[in-house]
Amino acid sequence: FLIDVGKGSVALHSENFSPVVLGDFTTRLPKAGETILGQKFFIGFGGKGANQCVQSARLGAKTSLICKVSADLLLDCTFVGQTADAVTGTASIIVNSEGQNVIVIVPGANLLLNSEDLKRASDIICKSKVVVCQLEITPAVSLEALKMARASGVKTLFNPAPALADLDPEFYTHSDIFCCNETEAEILTGIPVGNLEDAEKVGRMLLERGCKLVIVTLGAEGCMMISVEEPIPKHVPAEKVRAVDTTGAGDSFVGALAFYLAYYPELPMEEMVRKSNYIASVSVQASGTQSSYPYRKDLPQDLF
Ligand SMILES: Nc1ncnc2c1ncn2[C@@H]1O[C@H](COP(=O)(O)OP(=O)(O)OP(=O)(O)O)[C@@H](O)[C@H]1O
Ligand SMILES: *[C@@H]1O[C@H](CO)[C@@H](O)[C@H](O)[C@H]1NC(C)=O
Repeated sequence: FLIDVGKGSVALHSENFSPVVLGDFTTRLPKAGETILGQKFFIGFGGKGANQCVQSARLGAKTSLICKVSADLLLDCTFVGQTADAVTGTASIIVNSEGQNVIVIVPGANLLLNSEDLKRASDIICKSKVVVCQLEITPAVSLEALKMARASGVKTLFNPAPALADLDPEFYTHSDIFCCNETEAEILTGIPVGNLEDAEKVGRMLLERGCKLVIVTLGAEGCMMISVEEPIPKHVPAEKVRAVDTTGAGDSFVGALAFYLAYYPELPMEEMVRKSNYIASVSVQASGTQSSYPYRKDLPQDLF
């Protein structure tokens, strides 16, 4: 997604974004071929890009989402393309009473977002302050968006999620900020990340691959950052809070960071990361993904 795109941009007001996440609560998980009764059913909205976009918009950013859904969903968004050739991407999640889950993801229309769609959006991509990409669409299309942004001097924030072991090396060289979590860091580098030192190793390795700045998020521990300009790794701790549901915390962090990059570009990076940690730590104190993301008006005003 893109932010601060100026006139003609599409602001996000609602949570009516796809792909859709279906939640279904049962006391235990069904076996293959079995039908069981559940206690609760809900439909939420998600997809990493949409989550990040919503968090950024709730902080006051002017945002736009470039994506594709099935023509079966009625959405009024300039750059949300529709297709008759696939279903809207969904993640069906079944959760038992212990909180364990089974998940079936159908990427659907996400994989049909293509170069043509990007070209149609090129004006808004090139005029934005920050472009944020993930890997829930075809990786080559994500990379192309980063390249378009770079070519126009737009800041690029890349979140390699879900991670790919054989990520195209150009993703590193086209990321001003490369932000991953521990699992993604391990898939990309082969280094299991269990502590800060491991994260530092990962950071150095990703800098060598061409990133300008690497952030590894560490859950309750906050994150580790390292950059070409300041090659000494820095640990930015998170707030001590009582976590209720950490789902989507990473997207809250990325959305918040994009907001600061666009609207407070003069802030030192460490300060942006500290503030983004704070916002993500608020999101873990409420349940759900987008439903847990705080609005600017409900946050301490010294964050702005
Ligand atoms: N228990 C927690 N307490 C405080 N802050 C947290 C906690 N968990 C996550 N955070 C905040 O959220 C950020 C992202 O968390 P994390 O590294 O778990 O991302 P993630 O694994 O991508 O999230 P998820 O997959 O759960 O959506 C952290 O850097 C931190 O700022
Ligand atoms: C990191 O993000 C991935 C999605 O890309 C998720 O499956 C995984 O659980 C996350 N890891 C941690 C440690 O939260």
